[in-house]
Amino acid sequence: MNISVIGAGQMGAGIAQVFAAAGHNVSLNDINQAAIDRGIAAIASSLDRIVRKEKITEDDKNATLARIAGYTDLAEGVGKADLVIEAATENVDLKLKIFAQLDSLAPAAAPLATNTSSISITKIAAATKRPEKVIGMHFMNPVPVMKLVEVIRGYATDDATTKLVMDLSRELGKTPTEVNDYPGFVANRILMPMINEAITTLFEGVAGVEEIDTVMKLGMAHPMGPLQLADYIGLDTCLAILNVMKDGFGRAHHQPSPLLVNMVMAGKLGRKSGEGFYDYS
Ligand code: CAA
Repeated sequence: MNISVIGAGQMGAGIAQVFAAAGHNVSLNDINQAAIDRGIAAIASSLDRIVRKEKITEDDKNATLARIAGYTDLAEGVGKADLVIEAATENVDLKLKIFAQLDSLAPAAAPLATNTSSISITKIAAATKRPEKVIGMHFMNPVPVMKLVEVIRGYATDDATTKLVMDLSRELGKTPTEVNDYPGFVANRILMPMINEAITTLFEGVAGVEEIDTVMKLGMAHPMGPLQLADYIGLDTCLAILNVMKDGFGRAHHQPSPLLVNMVMAGKLGRKSGEGFYDYS
């Protein structure tokens, strides 16, 4: 199939990688060439890791990379798509704008999926004239490693679109899980209150960063502590998701910790900015 991925950041690059590795032709779209080059470099280094583990060969790596083409012109990048997956920043206005464009540029038969972590699929679908073909296809970071795809049906999503996305996820070696369209879906509805509470625990001086993470890593067998995971996801993304749930539910435990708000305002976004709860410089 021809798969068009919108956004060459952390998630978009990972999604492009897993589709190309499964034999699909991937067009990787972003607004400038530098973003595409960074995305392709990240894919190459992830594939190198898998080569080093002797799970694929150097030839497999090169064949995967050869199936990915970068585009800065959206019309060109989605013109032949059988499926589009949007993985832009977690910003509702941006996603509505992108989906209106995709609706006019992608073939009429192509389903339009979004990798949004929390934003309403129904709202995004309403920006198009094909709401029955709009669906959430939510991958987890790091995409090549994590087995889950959270598949979110919007109000109008039809069975054919859902089946296509469920089947494709299985073909990628993932386990798709179907959920309904409410703020944060299931993954972030449960994960983000935990991360937010860890930040509040730090803010209130109950324990330090490493102590909080050690408790959750060794006490609950989590692969990463919640503060390390927040840095990994990006603190701006965590804040955006909490705000969507706060607005959607109006419940106190979705109110972002003041420390999280401050760190995002200060540009301390976690790994991607070089500093968050930990220093990555
Ligand atoms: N590409 C390819 N392979 C990768 C990789 C990448 N980017 N990152 C890690 N790996 C591989 C490693 O090569 C290694 O492979 P083997 O098992 O064959 O040895 C394996 O993954 C484990 O990696 P490491 O040994 O380097 O390190 P680790 O054991 O600490 O695992 C981790 C790293 C997989 C990231 C692990 O710490 C983990 O699972 N963390 C939690 C991740 C998580 O919760 N993700 C969800 C975030 S929420 C989200 O994404 C959704 C949202 O909407 C916010």
